[in-house]
Amino acid sequence: MLITPQHLIQWKQQNRAIAVLTAWDYAIASILDRAGIEVILVGDSLSMVALGHETTLPLTLDEVIHHAKAVRRGVKEALLVVDLPFLTYQESWQQAMHSAGRILKETNAGAVKLEGGYPAIAETVARLVQAGIPVMGHVGLTPQSVRQTGFRQQGKSHEAGEKIVAEAIALEQAGAFAVVIEHVPADLAKTITESLTIPTIGIGAGIHCDGQVLVTSDVLGLGTWKPKFAKTYLDLNALITQAVQEFGEEVRAHKFPPET
Ligand code: KIV
Ligand code: NA
Repeated sequence: MLITPQHLIQWKQQNRAIAVLTAWDYAIASILDRAGIEVILVGDSLSMVALGHETTLPLTLDEVIHHAKAVRRGVKEALLVVDLPFLTYQESWQQAMHSAGRILKETNAGAVKLEGGYPAIAETVARLVQAGIPVMGHVGLTPQSVRQTGFRQQGKSHEAGEKIVAEAIALEQAGAFAVVIEHVPADLAKTITESLTIPTIGIGAGIHCDGQVLVTSDVLGLGTWKPKFAKTYLDLNALITQAVQEFGEEVRAHKFPPET
């Protein structure tokens, strides 16, 4: 079944939780899709995970499109969402339209995601949605603002929490079909989830969201650093190290390939 933004909204009503993971290439995307992950996100975290940068800031539109095209070839059923990189949408709604349009036309993605919920962003989301581009929002910790906020938890004070609630509501009113809530207190994420009819997708935001997202390299133990809220289900780093060391040893010992 091809999953659409409308399905996600239905699933919230049915209290059916949504599993979201990131992908940056064909191999990972194919595995996630066949495993039944409902939403596959070409997150701008690929800037760190796949390209080795320290933040998401350097990622370009051409780079995310290059990766999204590869991911697209592996995704048959999941909803494919692609992040708009830093400064490919903040300048104006026209810039956002151009960037999101390139993503949909060149990668055949199902939706785009962008960060923030302040008035100019809500206006941009409304423009994109009116033009037929499904948009996922992202509030709380927004890593494209790392130079202002660091990677610290957001919405800790009452005032800061209220501001994030208002942003999430503004995104829903602008026509977003879902909103990621990153690294905020669980009770704040609960308030937001109860205030919206569109699903919330949490990361480091507690158990009360309508879905959960993690960065796949954190799930698989592939990265060098991961946030405390991420769960590592598999230590691929250790497994790969062991496998390639074994290969190296067999080559140096003239044991691979076997004599025929
Ligand atoms: O870029 C990313 O991986 C994300 C998720 C953490 C939501 O935006
Ligand atoms: Na992102």
